[in-house]
Amino acid sequence: MDVSVGSSTADNTAAAEGQAFVWQRKHLLGLRELSAEELNHIFDTAESFKEVSQRSVKKAPPLRGKVVVNLFFEDSTRTRSSFSLAASRLSADVLDFTVKASSVSKGETLLDTARNLEAMGIDIIVIRHSAGGAPYMLSQSIDACVVNAGDGYHEHPTQGLLDIFTIRELRGSLKGLKVAIVGDIAHSRVARSNIWGLTTLGAEVFLVGPPTLMPSAVNQLPVTVCHNFDEIVGEMDVLNMLRVQFERIGSPMFPSVREYSRLFGLTEERMTRAKKDVLVMHPGPINRGLEIESEVADGPNSTILRQVTNGLAVRMAVLFLVNQAAAME
Ligand code: NCD
Repeated sequence: MDVSVGSSTADNTAAAEGQAFVWQRKHLLGLRELSAEELNHIFDTAESFKEVSQRSVKKAPPLRGKVVVNLFFEDSTRTRSSFSLAASRLSADVLDFTVKASSVSKGETLLDTARNLEAMGIDIIVIRHSAGGAPYMLSQSIDACVVNAGDGYHEHPTQGLLDIFTIRELRGSLKGLKVAIVGDIAHSRVARSNIWGLTTLGAEVFLVGPPTLMPSAVNQLPVTVCHNFDEIVGEMDVLNMLRVQFERIGSPMFPSVREYSRLFGLTEERMTRAKKDVLVMHPGPINRGLEIESEVADGPNSTILRQVTNGLAVRMAVLFLVNQAAAME
């Protein structure tokens, strides 16, 4: 697919290749509702955008004249800068909306804020919010496209997409792969998005962590739960290590940091029992020495920086596709 001269060319190329699939969602709220076909369509689109980032002039025109707003109510380094860069590589105008410096601190509601932004003629809102469901609520109330950049403990679809895209890139297919998601599952929207996307594509998901860091309805998820990391580490194709989200944990959920790292941390010692080609992932930010040792995070099996690079291509694909769906309305 050639994305260099805008969406119409991408459409024509898809038609010429006989691809019947047409992306129809103008919002990306979560991975739970996406089919395997939709997930693969995002990945195929992202692959074509990786090429744009390798050019000396890193720009493609599909979002020229469009306005993308980053509306972040929670801190972020990677996700926010990745969305900004993705939007500007597609030639959109980007507005970074800092909540602390906005009228939200004067009591304006999320909806009023969004409606005011919309009155300025924006096309896509990328939102991160501490309340699960905030992006959905927004999508019901405004005309602009809404992309979820993390809502409470609920979902973080573009992180899930970039994780799965990275596995697909390195392994070819997700079918039959064993993926362990390790650590603070209870507070992790990254875990939830990964669970939905991975299982839809045929991977087997294992959740590993102390019982206190498992979500309350874990038995309703399509996963195997395990409290002993050493029991399964040797069988896994992928180890996705989650950050312990201290800012979301009210009271202590494990005896001590040392104890946690001994039982659930990815140490060099534990890596000797893993498959030689196991992929070691982490969404960042890393607590070095807690959920992962530096030698492993920076070691040969680590995909951590590749994930960040791929995040850009995946977010370009998502912005491109929601805009395409909005144009068809
Ligand atoms: C994650 C998040 O904010 O949910 N980080 C990210 O987006 N890269 C995970 C985390 O904060 O631990």
